[in-house]
Amino acid sequence: MYVLPALSGTLVGSKHDLTGLNRRAGVEAMTGLAFNNYRDPCIYCHVPTGLQGKVAVGGQQIQEWNRYLPTGEIQVYESETLRSRIQELGPETLLCLSCHDGSMAVDMVVTKPEGWSVKDEAPLHMKIDKGGGLDRCTQCHDGNTAHRMDAVAIGRSLMDDHPVGVTYPGLFDSTDFYPPSSDGRFRNGVKLFRNKVECASCHDVHNPDIVPFLRVEQKDLCITCHNK
Ligand code: HEC
Ligand code: HEC
Ligand code: HEC
Ligand code: HEC
Ligand code: HEC
Repeated sequence: MYVLPALSGTLVGSKHDLTGLNRRAGVEAMTGLAFNNYRDPCIYCHVPTGLQGKVAVGGQQIQEWNRYLPTGEIQVYESETLRSRIQELGPETLLCLSCHDGSMAVDMVVTKPEGWSVKDEAPLHMKIDKGGGLDRCTQCHDGNTAHRMDAVAIGRSLMDDHPVGVTYPGLFDSTDFYPPSSDGRFRNGVKLFRNKVECASCHDVHNPDIVPFLRVEQKDLCITCHNK
């Protein structure tokens, strides 16, 4: 099967390029059938230029992103040893969950491209969720028709993931954590958002070079922040 190699260092052609999945997979099964083909890979997350300020209909918009807040309760990470009490998840986490927690279809955007009409709508609008069924990618992605998608369908509990929405202690105290080099950024690309660790601290969705979309090799990732 022909697999389109991702252009190194860019989202285009990667698994996060929802306009290119048919080509990538060598099948016509997805883009335009299982979800809308907006013909712009950025629009699935980013508000298209010039179209800021559009009011979200049918849900609450994630601040500054072209997506809706995930619906339903999200179980945040909890433990006795955590210093930081997680108050809320930042936009750089909610954005990921809007596709990866299975509550919404991957093409559920606030603003569709200019000129989009009803006849452009795909017949199905599938979600990344476990369990199969016509509204889920696991309908095909069950390990038989296509690769299993259970691991990326992280669901609504973040108990078995790295804590997110947590304030970075290394900004104030460097006993257990290294300080960032400047402005919440570490030299290797790992970064904080408003002093917090969010999903996009470790992951760069635009860059498939270090699988799975990591900012640095796994062996260097944890010791960017943790000092023991
Ligand atoms: C799957 C969601 C997603 C898609 C699709 C996406 N982005 Fe992003 N983008 C993000 C996130 C999350 C951030 C903020 C975190 C970061 O800097 O990586 C961001 C930040 C950016 C930034 C600011 C980077 C910085 O350092 O401040 C630029 C520029 C950008 N994206 C361009 C693009 C372009 C161009 C495309 C289409 C080719 C695109 N993005 C597609 C999620 C996405
Ligand atoms: C518009 C929907 C969408 C959004 C938003 C999104 N993703 Fe994804 N993500 C996908 C799809 C589709 C895949 C491919 C799943 C597969 O092939 O199993 C994927 C795969 C991944 C993978 C696995 C890659 C691999 O090589 O196995 C990681 C890690 C990931 N996403 C992280 C993130 C993070 C972090 C964010 C937020 C900053 C995010 N994603 C936002 C749709 C999305
Ligand atoms: C009608 C069946 C079908 C449906 C529905 C479907 N896919 Fe696929 N998908 C495939 C096939 C077949 C492949 C190629 C074989 C493989 O990668 O497992 C594929 C491959 C992919 C790839 C490329 C993986 C890689 O390694 O390059 C991604 C990403 C993907 N699908 C995402 C999705 C997402 C997200 C959805 C739901 C929104 C979805 N698919 C729905 C059949 C389907
Ligand atoms: C502290 C760094 C870090 C943070 C924060 C983080 N991840 Fe990851 N993530 C990783 C690493 C490392 C891997 C690869 C190893 C693994 O699968 O555990 C990974 C794997 C993944 C995968 C692929 C799972 C698989 O088994 O293929 C997805 C999807 C993903 N992360 C999404 C997210 C989302 C969504 C968030 C926020 C809720 C997040 N990550 C927060 C480091 C992080
Ligand atoms: C961007 C910085 C950063 C990176 C990279 C990072 N961590 Fe963390 N980690 C944190 C922060 C912040 C906390 C929460 C500290 C607190 O509030 O107590 C944390 C907490 C933890 C905890 C403790 C959870 C608890 O219940 O007490 C574990 C375990 C952990 N990280 C493992 C890892 C592993 C494994 C990696 C590499 C895959 C990693 N971390 C990468 C910043 C980071």
